[in-house]
Amino acid sequence: MKSKETKITLSEGTSWFWKFLDWLVVSVAVFRSVELPAIVALKFLQSAPLLVLSVNLTTSLLLIFDILLRFQRPVSTARGTLHGKQARLHYLETYFFWDLIGSLPWGFISNLFLPQGVWSEPISFLCLFRLARVVVFSKDFVRTPSRFFIARRLTVFLLWITLVIHLLACGWIAVDGVTHGLTAGHTYIRALYWSVTTVSTTGFGDITPKTEPQMIYTMLAMILGAGLYATVVANVASLISRSDSARAAFDSKIERLNTLMKYKNMPDSLQKQILGYHEYLWQTGLGHDHDDLLGDLSPGLRRSVGLFLNRHILEQIPMLRGAETPVLHRLISGLTSVVYTPGDTIIHHGEPGSAMYLINRGEVEVVDPKQGVVATLGEGEYFGELALLDPDRPRLADVRAKTFCALSLIDRETFSLVLEQFPDFAAHVRKVAATRIAESDLRAGQV
Ligand code: CMP
Repeated sequence: MKSKETKITLSEGTSWFWKFLDWLVVSVAVFRSVELPAIVALKFLQSAPLLVLSVNLTTSLLLIFDILLRFQRPVSTARGTLHGKQARLHYLETYFFWDLIGSLPWGFISNLFLPQGVWSEPISFLCLFRLARVVVFSKDFVRTPSRFFIARRLTVFLLWITLVIHLLACGWIAVDGVTHGLTAGHTYIRALYWSVTTVSTTGFGDITPKTEPQMIYTMLAMILGAGLYATVVANVASLISRSDSARAAFDSKIERLNTLMKYKNMPDSLQKQILGYHEYLWQTGLGHDHDDLLGDLSPGLRRSVGLFLNRHILEQIPMLRGAETPVLHRLISGLTSVVYTPGDTIIHHGEPGSAMYLINRGEVEVVDPKQGVVATLGEGEYFGELALLDPDRPRLADVRAKTFCALSLIDRETFSLVLEQFPDFAAHVRKVAATRIAESDLRAGQV
C-alpha cells in the first residue's frame, strides 16, 4: 500500500516531457496542414520532390512516434486519470483513428505506391485529420487556469482564422491556377489578398472570378466568410469588453452612484467621501464581491478559498500559527471584513462592546474623551478586546480611523474560541489588556 502511494506515475514524473511532446506534435500537425495545401496548390512537388517527400516522411514519423507513446501515457478524463489498459482502450475509442490517418506519409505513399492519377494529390489532404488533436489541444490550452486567459483565447482564435484564410487562399490558387509569369510567392500573396478581402467581406473587386469553377468557389468562400467574419467580430468584441469586466462593473457602479448623489442633492464633501471610499475599495481589491463569485462552490472548496483569502490575517498574528485546520476554518468563518474612511468613529467610549477589531491596513487613534489621543495603532495590532474580556466593562475609549482602514471584525463567540484554543495568544492579550487598563486608570487618576 505504502509503495503504491509513493510511486511516481509517468504523468507526474515526466509531465514536462508530455507537455513538450504535445506542443511539438501540435506544431507539426499545424505545419503539415499549412504546408501540404500550399505544396499541392503551388505544385512544389514537381519542382522539389526530394525535399517535399523527405519533410513529409520526417513529420509523419514524428507523429507516428507520438501515437506509440500515447499507448504508454496516462490520460485525464472527466472520470479521473486512466492508466495502463484503460488508458489504451480510451485512446483506441477516441482519437486513435484520427491520429493514425492524419499521421501517415500520404504524399510519400501516393507518390511511390499509388498509381498517379486524379486522386494521387488530394489523398495527401488526409493529413488534416491530425487537426482533431489540435482542436483538443486548443480547448485544453484555453481552459487551463491562467491570468492570460484572454490572450490565450485570442491566440487560438487567430490561429484557426489564419488557417482558414490560408486554406481558402490555396483553394483559390488551385481553381485560379498559378498566374503566368509570377513566382510562387507572388501568386500566394495575391491569393492571400483575395482570401482576406473575401472573408472580411470587403471584396475590392480587383481580383474577380472569371471561370465557372472560380465563381462557385468564390460564392462558397463568401458564404463561409460572412459567417466567419461575424464570429470574429463578435468574439473579439466580447473578449475585449471582458478583458476588464471588473473595472467596467466598478465604473458602472460609480456612474449609478454619481447619478443618485446628484439626484438626492448630497453635499459635495459627502459625495467626495463616498467616491473616495469606493476608490479605496477598488485600489485595495477589497470591493470585489467574492460571495457572488464563490457562492456556488462546494462547502469544502469554499472553506479552502476562505483560508487562502484570509491567510494574511493569520500571518499577522504569529501566535495563531500552527493551529489545526478546523480551528482556523472556525476562526475565519467568524471574521467579517470592514472598511472605515478617515475620521470615522469605530468604537464609542462608554458603549457596551460586542466585537473586537484586527487592523489589516491603515491606522486608528485611541481617543480618551478627556485627554485626547492616547495611542495610535497600526497594521497587525488590535483593539476593542477589553469589553470582550470583561462583559461588564463598557468601552474604555473612542477609537477613530486616522486613515482609510481595512479591519477584520471578530465577534464575541469567535474571540472566546481563539482564547480557548491559543493559550499563548490569550496570555498575550491579557497582558496587553492589563497595561491598557492600567494606563487608563492612571489617566483617570491624573484628571
Ligand atoms: P475597549 O475598551 O473594548 O474599546 C476601546 C479600545 O481602545 C479598548 O478596548 C482597547 O483595545 C483600546 N485602548 C484603550 N486604551 C488604550 C491604550 N492606552 N493603548 C492602546 N489601546 C487602548
